[in-house]
Amino acid sequence: MENAGNVQYSEKVMQHFLNPHNVGELPDANGIGNVGNPVCGDIMRLYIKVENGKIMDVSFKTFGCGAAIATSSMVTDLVKGKTIEEALQISNRAVAEALGGLPKVKMHCSVLAEEALKAAIEDYKKKQQGA
Ligand code: FES
Repeated sequence: MENAGNVQYSEKVMQHFLNPHNVGELPDANGIGNVGNPVCGDIMRLYIKVENGKIMDVSFKTFGCGAAIATSSMVTDLVKGKTIEEALQISNRAVAEALGGLPKVKMHCSVLAEEALKAAIEDYKKKQQGA
């Protein structure tokens, strides 16, 4: 546990915050999810590239707190290579657990990651129907 001010973060959270995975835009994404938390004002954008029902590539851009960045990074790790159906089963709790837990006051940040993933899949499905 690292003590960052008065909130305790797991080592994994700190690692993903300091060295986030899959950061940036995905130029050939076919699904993009944009979500925000109106209370803290943080925003998250998740890009997915789906091929044959599988998420082949994923990346994110997050303007937000450390926990939002760590959960974005973790969710991209968790969904890579998964089918859409499997990805839809990933809850914010699963993301938080994979990070070794989040302080209670930071659980809402992981909700942003779940919502961004769902929004990106929704966007992908919509685009498929329109195609
Ligand atoms: Fe806004 Fe963490 S405080 S997402």
